[in-house]
Order: sequence, then structure tokens, then C-alpha cells
Amino acid sequence: MTDQNLAIIVLAAGQGTRMKSSLPKMLHPLAGAPIVGHVLATARALDAAHVLAVVRHEREQVASAIEAGFPGTVLVDQDEIDGTGRAVELAVAALPEGFDGDVLVLNGDVPLLDADTLAEFLGRHRGTGSAASVLSAVYDDPSGYGRIVRSDAGAFDRIVEQKDATPDERAIAEINAGIYAFGAAALRDQLANLTTENAQGEKYLTDVIGLLRAAGSEVEAVPVAEPWLVAGINDRAQLSETAARLNALIVRGWQLAGVTIDDPATTWIDLAVKIESDVTIRPGTQLKGATVIATGAVVGPDTTLVDCEVGENAEVRRTDGTLAVIGAGATVGPFSFLRPGTVLGADGKIGAFVETKNAQIGEGSKVPHLSYIGDATIGVHSNVGAGSITANYDGVQKHRTEIGSHVRTGSHGVFVAPVRIGDGVYTGAGTVVRKEVPAGALAVNVAPQRNIEGWVQQYRAGTAAAQAAEVAGEASEPVVD
Ligand code: UD1
Ligand code: MG
Repeated sequence: MTDQNLAIIVLAAGQGTRMKSSLPKMLHPLAGAPIVGHVLATARALDAAHVLAVVRHEREQVASAIEAGFPGTVLVDQDEIDGTGRAVELAVAALPEGFDGDVLVLNGDVPLLDADTLAEFLGRHRGTGSAASVLSAVYDDPSGYGRIVRSDAGAFDRIVEQKDATPDERAIAEINAGIYAFGAAALRDQLANLTTENAQGEKYLTDVIGLLRAAGSEVEAVPVAEPWLVAGINDRAQLSETAARLNALIVRGWQLAGVTIDDPATTWIDLAVKIESDVTIRPGTQLKGATVIATGAVVGPDTTLVDCEVGENAEVRRTDGTLAVIGAGATVGPFSFLRPGTVLGADGKIGAFVETKNAQIGEGSKVPHLSYIGDATIGVHSNVGAGSITANYDGVQKHRTEIGSHVRTGSHGVFVAPVRIGDGVYTGAGTVVRKEVPAGALAVNVAPQRNIEGWVQQYRAGTAAAQAAEVAGEASEPVVD
């Protein structure tokens, strides 16, 4: 049920300078979703009456990603005044005037924090009746974070930013996770008192905490059970560390759900992927986007699938596929390239060094070796000979090739589209099919072979080839054609 007394503010306006990227930090992908998307998904799970996201840097890109993924989020534009304090000040001003509940502030760059941990944090905050609560963590390497300064008795005192900290304060291992719960009234009061007098010339949200303490209010710093839960992403090293951590959780989740994963370290699975039990994932495999794998399938080794569907008991080895559908019992690979629009029927085959695009290949049909099949429809139980090409592009437009059912095309065929090949057709090796082949016909258009006898002895005399021909004897004897 929606919590009418809860507002969540997601801070997403910062520049993310340390990423050194033209893509806004908030939109860097993590397990297939933008960093900020993970935070908004957590906010949504808490079912707050108000969810607000503060944006500024690359506003249009960030705002449209948020609107697309999380409609209903209130976007708040930060002005030219910098800092997390200013961001929260503007978000609080965008709340309904009478709102007097709790305000949960989430850093848009802390993506692993889960809703259960936050619900517990919020429950504790509400239970103690503190004016504010701060999530903290103890890190071996706390550099870059604000530090939690406690009194000798261990009571929370204030937060000091790394850039403003003394050497002694920098040695403190307990850090501010950037996640806070505030009573709305206390927060409103102290936001009005923030200044920009600090090393970065920004309004620090962390100063609200110090101001509340100075005003005699109770503030609690609550250490999180697992420090990685609140790891922030500020640079690309932290991005890859966080990605690895999240991936390990995802992989383990699938293993516990009955999926065999040979090598978690080299298997990458996006959050939105779905895998049934008794699937086997071999090493070096990436399953991305909305990929779905049905039971009994074996995927990998060394396979990347983006937005693909793999049917029951299918086998997909050393393959790169995007937006492809692989039928039940079908086999793909090794070294196959499945481009968007590939649909392989049940028990079909796309074999070694085959590229497909926009190709519907019917049940039991096979393209086993060294071929390009693009903009094509193939019926059921047909076999496309090794080294076949659909010549689908005339330099201006793409055209379709239609191949019927129970067709056997010879090796090294070229199908010059648009062209149709009827049911039950055979084509000879090396045939260039330029016009329709009616059902049941054999299509051949290769010129008759001509043997020019004795050519090697005459024009390549003294070579190893000529000698071999000599030894073979009959090479020099005229053969009647
Ligand atoms: C902040 C905290 C620090 C804490 C760390 C945890 C402050 C002053 N410091 O530092 O104590 O240890 O998070 O990860 O709060 N943002 C805005 N508007 C701004 C500036 C930032 O919306 O003007 C957003 C950013 O997009 C980001 C979040 O606020 O999502 C934190 O900003 P960032 O610059 O990463 O702060 P840190 O230096 O990490
Ligand atoms: Mg940060």
C-alpha cells in the first residue's frame, strides 16, 4: 500500500566529472539498466507517495531516460547553485506544501542498495524519532567519501567531506553512504541555513546534519550490514567493481534457481534476462537485454545474446546474436552471427560461419556451413548448401528470397533477390538463381566444363605440377569429351 508519509528524493543532477565521459554518469549501464534506474527501481519498490528526481547535467538525456523507465517520477530541475544540499532544497520545495512525513534521500550513483535494507533503515529512523538518520559503512579504503565523525563516547557528531577533512579525519574508516532519512519539517528548517562556505563552494546536504546537531536535534548514523550495499559510483573503476558485484549476485541467484553456470567469473547476465531451470551456461557467455532461455538449453561457451529467445533443449555455441529467436531443439554455432529478425524453427540448424539477418528458417531446415542468409524465408526441412549467399541488395534496395519446403540447394549457390524457389526444388552446385524455380525442378546454370588436355605440360613445363601429371601417366593421354 502506498506510504502517504514518505517522499523519496533521488539525486541525479551531478556532473559525474570523475567518469570523464560524454555519457552522463547516471546513464552508464549496469547489468543492462542505467545506474539511476537501479535507484529508481528501489524507490518504486518502497511505494512512496512522492518520488522526485533532481536533474541538471545533460538534463534532456537523463530526464527522458527517467520518464521512459519510471513514469510518475516528479522531475525537479536544479539551478546554477551546486551541491547535494541545493538539490534537496529544490526537491523539498516541489513537495506538496503540507507534506509533513519522512523524506528519504537516495544518491543516484549508489545503485546496489536494496529496498529491504532501506525499509529497515526507515523503520529504525521512525522508531527512534530522530530528526535525521544517516546510513554509514566502514571501508578499508574510505577515500573520496564523506567521513562520519563521532564523539569519544561514539555518538554521531557530524559529517566531513574528504576535501574539507583534516588528516586525522581522513583516517576515519566510517563513511557517509549518502542515504538519509529526515523529518520533513526539520529538513525544511535547516536547508534554509545552508551556505556554500566549503572547499567545493557547494551547498552540502551533509551540513544539514551538522546544523541539526547544533540545534540540539537527535541524529543517528546507522552502519549498513554489508558495506558494498552502499558503494557509490564516481569513476569507471568503481563502475566495473559494482558491475562485478551485481553480476555475482545475479549469477548466484540463477544458480540457486536451478541453472548450471560453469564459470560465474566469465558469465555476465543482465538483470532483465529470464532463464528456466536446467539450462546450462558455459564459460565466456553474456546474456543481455531481455534474453529468455528455456529449460534444457545449453548456451556457450563464448556466446553473446542480446534480446534473444532460446527454445527448450536448443544448443547455442560460440555465437553472437541480437534479436534472434532460436526454436526448441535447434542448434546454432560454432561461430554463427545471428542479426535482428533471425527466426530459426524447431530442430533447425544455423552452423559454422553462417550469418543471418531478417531470415525465417522453418522447422527442421538447415543452413550448416559458411553462408549468408538475409531477408529470406525458408520453409520446413530444407537444406541450404555450404557457401550459399542470398544476394539481397541491388545497391539501392533490399529484396527478399523465398525458398520453399524440402528444398536441397547445391553448394556455393547464389540467390539473386527478389527470387522464389518452390517446394521440393534441387539446385546444382554453383548455381546463380536469378529467376523463379518452380516446385520440383532442378535448377542449373553453370557452363559445361571444358578440359584442355596437356595444358600443364605445355605451359608449366618443369614444375612440380607437370611432373606429378607425368607420373600420373594418363594426364597426357587425350580424353574424349
Ligand atoms: C556525496 C556526499 C558524501 C558521501 C557520498 C556517498 C555530499 C556533500 N557528499 O559525495 O558525504 O560520502 O556522496 O556516495 O553530499 N548531485 C546533485 N546535484 C549536485 C551535486 C550532486 O543532484 O549539485 C547528485 C549526484 O548526481 C549524485 C549525488 O548527488 O547522485 C552525490 O553527488 P556526488 O558528486 O557523487 O557526491 P560525492 O562526492 O560522491
Ligand atoms: Mg558520489
